[in-house]
Amino acid sequence: MKQHLLFLTWALVLIACEKDPSVLPSEHDPSAASEALKDAASFPVGAAVNYNNFLANPPYSNLVKRDFNSITLENEMKNASLVKGGGVFDFSRADAMVNAAGSLQIFGHTLVWHTQQAASYYKAAAGITSSPAASQEEIAAKLDAELRRTIGAIAGHYKGKVQAWDVINELFADNGAIRNNSNTSTSGSDVLVWSHYLGRDLGAKAFQYAAEADPSAKLFLNDYGLESNPVKLDSLIAFVNELKAKGVKIDGIGTQMHISLNTSRTGIESMFKKLAATGLLVRVSELDILVNPSSATGFVLTPAIAESQAEMYQFVVQSYISNVPSSQRHGITVWGVMDASSWRYQNGKDFPLLYDNEFNKKPAYAGFLKALN
Ligand code: G3I
Repeated sequence: MKQHLLFLTWALVLIACEKDPSVLPSEHDPSAASEALKDAASFPVGAAVNYNNFLANPPYSNLVKRDFNSITLENEMKNASLVKGGGVFDFSRADAMVNAAGSLQIFGHTLVWHTQQAASYYKAAAGITSSPAASQEEIAAKLDAELRRTIGAIAGHYKGKVQAWDVINELFADNGAIRNNSNTSTSGSDVLVWSHYLGRDLGAKAFQYAAEADPSAKLFLNDYGLESNPVKLDSLIAFVNELKAKGVKIDGIGTQMHISLNTSRTGIESMFKKLAATGLLVRVSELDILVNPSSATGFVLTPAIAESQAEMYQFVVQSYISNVPSSQRHGITVWGVMDASSWRYQNGKDFPLLYDNEFNKKPAYAGFLKALN
């Protein structure tokens, strides 16, 4: 009789589990994940941090210092944050964050990008918006001078404080071509496509100027979509090999990895293998994982979906470790802290990060940690 009862109970549990996967015991129980990511990892583990939270929200900054050993300033080292009217530099906000970082490493993001910059200033300075506009040669020469001045000032200011830089961010359009004014939207007062005027030479110039300003910083080329766009990935790798052949100092490639539960795992594996084959450092620079990629209204993060997200975080970290040799692992940075701080949160439509809005660890955290262990 006792045996029958036991069997009946077990059968009922199994049926319940089949109907509602949320009652399955979690493989990624966050309450059991007490170890800090930074202590479990043999490479830097970082978070992108924003100004207000990092400087004025102690639960946020304490959590960052507890679990991570590297930060990237989410916006404050971008050109628009540092270059003001007339091309004058204002380092005050970024400096405040650097001073508050303590022993955290700082990854610099970013010296050159086609957006979030003082575009009106550069366009006027280079004669793009003057009437009549300057010749292409004059524009290229003036932009080159501004590129050198800007990179020199910024990388020089943070020499010894920033360990590595995204020298160029998002140089490639989705068809694998270098960006120009045809394959990139030029609308927006903060947009200037440097490569439209400087062409492929932008690469060698920007990396050379960064190396001159801070010879010991590691210099990266950073881009997005590399796990799902092999054309763009191959084009970026060919470009990197070209720079290496020219003797340009380029140390690493950053793969942003703004991905989702649906991202092809084969694509991720193949990307890491190809990046590792360059022999350069490889950094996952902006990791986040969407759970509601179609932005469905009324979406609820069930325990089962949180578990799938944990599995995907675990997969990414495991794939990085198994495909990138340890000497080439520059680290993994998650693009934000609690879900509400993510650029993909959309007022509660998605939950891409490792912590909920009360700073509790999600199963995603346990997934990341499991891969490290
Ligand atoms: O600072 C202004 C503030 O003064 C104003 O009141 C407010 C009103 O909207 O906007 C504030 O600026 C916002 C800025 O973040 C700082 O919060 C911008 O509107 C907003 O567009 C900007 O978004 C950032 C985005 O880059 C811009 O492209 C995100 O925070 C940041 O996470 C995101 O990061 C990028 C990486 O740099 C490159 N890879 C892709 C990644 C996601 O887009």
